[in-house]
Amino acid sequence: MNTPAEIYGIFGNPVAHSLSPLMHNCAFREMKLDALYVPFLVEDLEGAIRGIRALNIRGVSVTIPFKTAVLPHLDEVEESARAIGAVNTIMNTDGKLRGFNTDWIGLVHSLGESVEIRGRTFAIIGAGGAARAAVFGILKKGGLPIIMNRTAEKGKALAREFDCPFQPLTDISAVESEGLINTTPVGMKPDEGKTPIRRGDLSRFRVVMDIIYNPLRTRLLREAGEAGCHVVDGLGMFIHQGAEQIRVWTGREPPVALMRQVVRKKLEDKMKGFKDSRGQGSKGKTV
Ligand SMILES: NC(=O)c1ccc[n+]([C@@H]2O[C@H](COP(=O)([O-])OP(=O)(O)OC[C@H]3O[C@@H](n4cnc5c(N)ncnc54)[C@H](OP(=O)(O)O)[C@@H]3O)[C@@H](O)[C@H]2O)c1
Repeated sequence: MNTPAEIYGIFGNPVAHSLSPLMHNCAFREMKLDALYVPFLVEDLEGAIRGIRALNIRGVSVTIPFKTAVLPHLDEVEESARAIGAVNTIMNTDGKLRGFNTDWIGLVHSLGESVEIRGRTFAIIGAGGAARAAVFGILKKGGLPIIMNRTAEKGKALAREFDCPFQPLTDISAVESEGLINTTPVGMKPDEGKTPIRRGDLSRFRVVMDIIYNPLRTRLLREAGEAGCHVVDGLGMFIHQGAEQIRVWTGREPPVALMRQVVRKKLEDKMKGFKDSRGQGSKGKTV
């Protein structure tokens, strides 16, 4: 193998499960970029950041648990990333490190493919990093977020910060909104039997989005589909946040459809392997 001209990568811990290397390397090949995207299991964040400059790594994706911790180590943080309080993308320009957040763009792009955001109300479950990106994005697109969180204090603090309403998660049956967005990890593998809200509370939402993409069809989305809601899985957000990273790093348009196709296939193969190993078929309606 020839040495690639440009190195990109992802910083996380754990990181072995990440589908970003598959997605980005496939995009780079299609774009005929002489570049390689590598997963880095980070034990020492400060050292890893120094490594970006030392090794002339051109761009880095940042994932759990470093999205907030990385901020003070960067030379510049773009306005939306600062407002969200999280960076998922670093660009290295001659040793100057700039932080961006493309999660919010991924979320509104994916949601916006299914529903008009402007003027609509969306109940957002969660108050962590992904919820912050969701609230920021919904507001930016002219929508109205309502924050619902298990821990009321954390939810209220987020609501105050973005000047929007808060309702406890236990009040879900009383919330007035057209859409529902789950930003918690509830229902993610290996806990795919779990769901953040009861089936009986779903039918009044026109659209239900779950930003989890492993599995693609969470219990929440299965039950929402059965209740007649339009459902949006987390794959679109993942693909669009990654596509925006490539735009930031290269200034070029990435092959979004191909990226979606390879990641979807990988997730479906994983699911099939999992079901085969348990000797089970698919359950629930595909929407
Ligand atoms: N599709 C994508 O591209 C994409 C991008 C980013 C993140 N994600 C996914 O988003 C999820 C959340 O990530 P994050 O960074 O926001 O995590 P985080 O900062 O740890 O926040 C997690 C939130 O979920 C809530 N929560 C956790 N367990 C809960 C439970 N059992 N019941 C009710 N609420 C619960 C927490 O509530 P408390 O405040 O009460 O603890 C907290 O508000 C992860 O599954 C991640 O994979 C997907």
